[in-house]
Amino acid sequence: MEKLRFGLVLIVLCLSTSLVKGGDPILTFEWKVTYGTISPLGVPQQVILINDKFPGPIINGTSNNNIVVNVFNQLDEPFLFTWNGIQQRKNSWQEGTLGTNCPIPPGSNFTYHFQVKDQIGSFFYYPTTALHRAAGGYGGISVHSRALIPIPFDINPADEFFVLVSDWYTKSHTQLRKFLDSGRSMGRPDGIIINGKGGKGDGKDEPMFSMTPGKTYRYRFCNAGMKDSINVRIQGHTMKLVEMEGSHVVQNMYDSLDIHLGQCVSVLVTADKDPKDYLLVASTRFTKEPHTATSIIRYTNGNGPASPELPKAPIGWAWSLNQFRSFRWNLTASAARPNPQGSYHYGQINITRTIKLVNTAGTVDGKLRYAINGVSHVNPTTPIKLAEYYGVEDKIFKYDLMKDEYEPPAGKAQEKITLAPNVVRVTYRNFVEIIFENHEKSVQSFHLAGYSFFTVAIEPGKWNPEKRKNYNLLDAVSRNTIQVYPNSWAAIMTTLDNAGLWNLRSNSVERQYLGQQLYFSALSPKRDLKDEYNMPDNDVLCGIIKDMPLPKPYSV
Ligand SMILES: *[C@@H]1O[C@H](CO)[C@@H](O)[C@H](O)[C@H]1NC(C)=O
Ligand SMILES: *[C@@H]1O[C@H](CO)[C@@H](O)[C@H](O)[C@H]1NC(C)=O
Ligand SMILES: *[C@@H]1O[C@H](CO)[C@@H](O)[C@H](O)[C@H]1NC(C)=O
Ligand SMILES: *[C@@H]1O[C@H](CO)[C@@H](O)[C@H](O)[C@H]1NC(C)=O
Repeated sequence: MEKLRFGLVLIVLCLSTSLVKGGDPILTFEWKVTYGTISPLGVPQQVILINDKFPGPIINGTSNNNIVVNVFNQLDEPFLFTWNGIQQRKNSWQEGTLGTNCPIPPGSNFTYHFQVKDQIGSFFYYPTTALHRAAGGYGGISVHSRALIPIPFDINPADEFFVLVSDWYTKSHTQLRKFLDSGRSMGRPDGIIINGKGGKGDGKDEPMFSMTPGKTYRYRFCNAGMKDSINVRIQGHTMKLVEMEGSHVVQNMYDSLDIHLGQCVSVLVTADKDPKDYLLVASTRFTKEPHTATSIIRYTNGNGPASPELPKAPIGWAWSLNQFRSFRWNLTASAARPNPQGSYHYGQINITRTIKLVNTAGTVDGKLRYAINGVSHVNPTTPIKLAEYYGVEDKIFKYDLMKDEYEPPAGKAQEKITLAPNVVRVTYRNFVEIIFENHEKSVQSFHLAGYSFFTVAIEPGKWNPEKRKNYNLLDAVSRNTIQVYPNSWAAIMTTLDNAGLWNLRSNSVERQYLGQQLYFSALSPKRDLKDEYNMPDNDVLCGIIKDMPLPKPYSV
């Protein structure tokens, strides 16, 4: 009898962990993705909902949790999610970009399986297909540290709030897509929303957040928008910055913070002011006529409305650059390091490759395109990752069309832009330096999937090797998104220690859709399972590999 029971327990254990690594806890989600009509800016429009909600559910994980998300695509178009900033170690199969995955066909489902590791912090997910992001479909991801590893805060927050801010269009994603497909820009956003709502500060909104006097709260902000940097601030309160995209930082106080496209930060706010309502304010930056949205923070013992006077946003980008320079990694924080092999001494590692990326805008056959080093990326119908896995990449794309160094033609001369898959081969485990040089008049923001990188410098002007003297080689923050100011450059450094195919993209949805992205292919030379997982059994197949026999899998 005892033996039998023991046997049963074993079987049950095996079943529940069969799909995932080790015995770490599993968080399971079932998401129904549909269209619905809501009015984020007061005008009814078609929005992408997850389980009838926008923003979608928060994935609230703890380090080492296995996340299982079964996505039912009930839209009329193929669909994918990406988990922006989650490193997907050895597992670019779960990245959910059109270079790594076939989209989930309408009316069917696909289950993502991934593990969140030692990236203790704030991230978000969003749709990567067909400009779906313009219709919403995004939500927050928080990763907590395990009970035994304390977070480096003086005060444990009484509660925490996710605050997804984004610019917003009242046109549908299909309308906006028509603009882009016909060669036009999608124009200026119509407004800004906070957690799906465009509060106007007229005292008529329902409170969105509630604080008990004397207590401290964590606000996790992400800019999930499409075009604009956003400044956030709270009437009467300062914010203590504690975390950026999975790194604990030196805890400075700020009146307001610029959050560029794709970025996430956490702040602590203490409810130590007069008991009444206060407005959380989000406004677009670097735009002629800024959009502003507010939401109400209510003290639980509050007895009065918020003042109608909004704290002002900073002006110009020099302010923003100065703020960037104040961000420092907390070297003594006890939480886990973002890179496993001691690269927090990144300043002492020799650079093996320098890649300088210049963003440009131009036209091809009269249509607007955006490029990196003269190449405007086009997704092949067979995803790049699958073409590599099946060994048919020669039929689908050419590696290394783009050079590591590039200088666009000066003045009004037309740049020759190549339309093709932009896939750059990189050597697994190399330590690389990537320079973003922005010769344009608008602020850019770039994301690299699969890695965290050290944001060692942003400066006006052009980059040259002499500028390395100005790098912060000690305590630059390790994160996954970096902004580049007009006529400026930014430098990042990272170890390419995660084998797979990784997207480097403009966070501007329009630029990304019209080609301002590329893929780094960091292949494990031995097809070794220790370096990279095999294609999952449930992977959606498409393009020329659809009916091909499965290739020999990676092995140990
Ligand atoms: C998220 O997870 C943390 C850690 O397990 C927990 O303390 C917190 O209450 C959770 N938050 C929500 C909204 O479920
Ligand atoms: C689709 O959902 C069903 C029911 O939950 C599940 O059994 C199946 O594995 C899912 N399919 C994929 C490809 O994930
Ligand atoms: C860094 O983290 C430690 C705890 O790990 C904390 O005591 C210290 O105050 C933090 N330093 C700064 C400058 O924020
Ligand atoms: C880095 O390069 C220098 C000069 O080429 C060399 O002396 C040094 O040993 C290298 N350091 C490491 C850690 O490889």
